[in-house]
Amino acid sequence: MTKPKLLIARKLRPVVEARAARDYDVILNPEDRVFSQGELIAACRVVDAVLPCHSERFSAGVIAELGPRLKIIANHSVGTDHVDLAAAKAAGIVVTNTPDVLSDATAEIAMLCMLGAARRGAEGDALIRAGKWDVWSPAFMVGRQVTGKRFGVLGMGRVGQVTAERARGFGMQVHYHNRTRLPDHLEKGAVFHDTVESLLAVSDVLSLHCPSTPATAGLINARTLALLPERAILVNTARGALVDEDALIAALQSGRLFAAGLDVFQTEPGGNPGLAALPNVFLLPHIGSATEETRDAMGVRALDNLDAFFAGRAPGDRVA
Ligand code: DGY
Repeated sequence: MTKPKLLIARKLRPVVEARAARDYDVILNPEDRVFSQGELIAACRVVDAVLPCHSERFSAGVIAELGPRLKIIANHSVGTDHVDLAAAKAAGIVVTNTPDVLSDATAEIAMLCMLGAARRGAEGDALIRAGKWDVWSPAFMVGRQVTGKRFGVLGMGRVGQVTAERARGFGMQVHYHNRTRLPDHLEKGAVFHDTVESLLAVSDVLSLHCPSTPATAGLINARTLALLPERAILVNTARGALVDEDALIAALQSGRLFAAGLDVFQTEPGGNPGLAALPNVFLLPHIGSATEETRDAMGVRALDNLDAFFAGRAPGDRVA
């Protein structure tokens, strides 16, 4: 039987590429080159399936050009904001993602962002690297302690729940807002807020874990930042589109916000030079899920979805 033809758009872990090469007529990208939009369309037109990352954008315009052969977009990501799901559905293209397997890794990065922001990690690191650490004093680099503070989770899905668990480990009280309230065994004593506004008012640390959709774009803006307690900390490991970065810069510059820990930005790759110029921001380049274990698991999960699809079964992680 002929194997389905599969394009793996970015360089994946060896175990994933080896399994794909065994089971599919696979096109790999060993140099990890980023496709232009035209190249992506051309490459997808001659395959049955594509396994992209969030770096490949399948807008309605791209999907309209894909032609009849492509049957499934099996994402190597939990986020699906890079795919126009309605357009894919209308074109009869199945879309899947990789939930669950990156929750631990992303929660770790959320903790790193929180601590890096609260304890002025970027400033301290920069000082030593620049050879400028020439004094110590009890007044030196004093940050904010998170123990005992209120940890607000905006979006209590899988990643939000694991992150909340890690925050409990720091003795923090968990508050959350979610479209639906969690059952007791998942809520674990966290305080539910039925509005974003109510959550923000009590979040000494606010950690974003909601998907990027038209409804959540710019959810954190001048108005909502002003609702946070004085000198709060913002953590974003979800998507840059959730935050109005100009408003964030203003809140950080004024000191209204103590600090921010950010793994995601409106513009990626690259980030925001205005944020990078501020001392009270701890920055990472979208590496929430970048561990060996999680990258392996994401690739395996994407292949499991493909295998199910081509075996005529429903892929476990179908989103469109
Ligand atoms: C995800 O899975 O959505 C991460 O942001 C990495 O792509």
